[in-house]
Amino acid sequence: MTARVQESFHVSANVAKMQASSTMMAMQKAVEMRAAGIDVVDLGPGEPDFDTPEHIKQAAIEALRAGETKYTPTAGTRRLLTSIIGYYERNFGTRFDLSEVMATAGGKQAIFNAIVALVDPGDEVLIPKPYWVTFPEIVVFAGAKPVFIETEETGFTLTAEQVKRAITPRTRLLIINSPSNPSGRVIPPDEFRRIMEVATEHGIYTISDECYLQFVYPPAKVWSAATLPRELRDRLCIAGSFSKTYAMTGWRIGYAIAPREWTSAMLKVQQHSTSNPTSIAQRAAAEAFDGPQDCVAAMLAEYSRRREWLIGALREIPGFRVLEPEGAFYAFPDVRGCLRGEVKTSAAFVQRLIEEAHTVVTDGAGFGAEGYIRISYATSLERLQEGVRRIRKLAEKLAAA
Ligand SMILES: Cc1ncc(COP(=O)(O)O)c(C=O)c1O
Repeated sequence: MTARVQESFHVSANVAKMQASSTMMAMQKAVEMRAAGIDVVDLGPGEPDFDTPEHIKQAAIEALRAGETKYTPTAGTRRLLTSIIGYYERNFGTRFDLSEVMATAGGKQAIFNAIVALVDPGDEVLIPKPYWVTFPEIVVFAGAKPVFIETEETGFTLTAEQVKRAITPRTRLLIINSPSNPSGRVIPPDEFRRIMEVATEHGIYTISDECYLQFVYPPAKVWSAATLPRELRDRLCIAGSFSKTYAMTGWRIGYAIAPREWTSAMLKVQQHSTSNPTSIAQRAAAEAFDGPQDCVAAMLAEYSRRREWLIGALREIPGFRVLEPEGAFYAFPDVRGCLRGEVKTSAAFVQRLIEEAHTVVTDGAGFGAEGYIRISYATSLERLQEGVRRIRKLAEKLAAA
């Protein structure tokens, strides 16, 4: 029976073109090593090491007790949607209409819905490098073509000029992620505005992935594309998430804010795939936005402490070059200065690090930046220090070879 199924099964053309997630692979490797009893330092995950704040958990418990365990409207409960609207109005001074907002199962589903609802085969989608691994894969799944924009010359910060140069008559969509995973770089608001002017001039749609919105370090400031004037937001979808800001990765809750025609199309995708995000998670998310924000400030202060230590320590490693990450919780050093002998690529460096030093980081090649590695500091300072000690040992060994 199984043999016959295997013979007749062949994966669809669109899915066959997709790559497995390199960040998930790093996570899996750490799990396997830990199961084998190895003392692994895992600097792979893009996941806060904090627990979800207590008042948010309590809201979910209350929702359960109150029997909020049924389907909700596809777009999400009115309670959550008004919380999202209120949050943007309070923080960014823009009032969105209910028809422009929808709740999703994580920021990832917001991005999935937005892409699938917009692009056709043959369309080109601009994705600046380095990119979050999921962007090009969804584009490929939707049958469109990712077109990558090199940004190394501008320190991994996208400019309007670079966007202009990449536009062709087939360009349909631009995906921006600031603060960026993996580089931590932040596009200055003035430049962001110029990018949106170029996109608007050419009738190109934009997704602004703002999943790390609240995690920025001075002098960078919290900023959302929601603050742009209306005429620059006519073709803009904001993808947001509760995962990072409130340490809620497992709850699977996020949102999209877009012009109503776009959200209506996204709702169709959601209606026929996941229906609605979990009712209980929606109540928790509403509390996250409406409730006290000191939990966010506390997490940011801790990330900030780790970041400061980490950047200084990485800059002392021979062969490493480190750009200042202005946001998120990653460092993205250029390790090409360490590549020699059999260790010719960042993938080989990462592999060596796992095998010899039992330390997991993520290969930059998966983010479109060969020669770089991503180090997550969403882990305790003690583990971070141990991990960096191990990384340094390997780098010194390679430098001496
Ligand atoms: C840049 C970026 N966007 C979106 C997401 C999606 O997060 P979630 O689906 O958990 O909201 C992530 C998660 O790692 C991310 O790094």
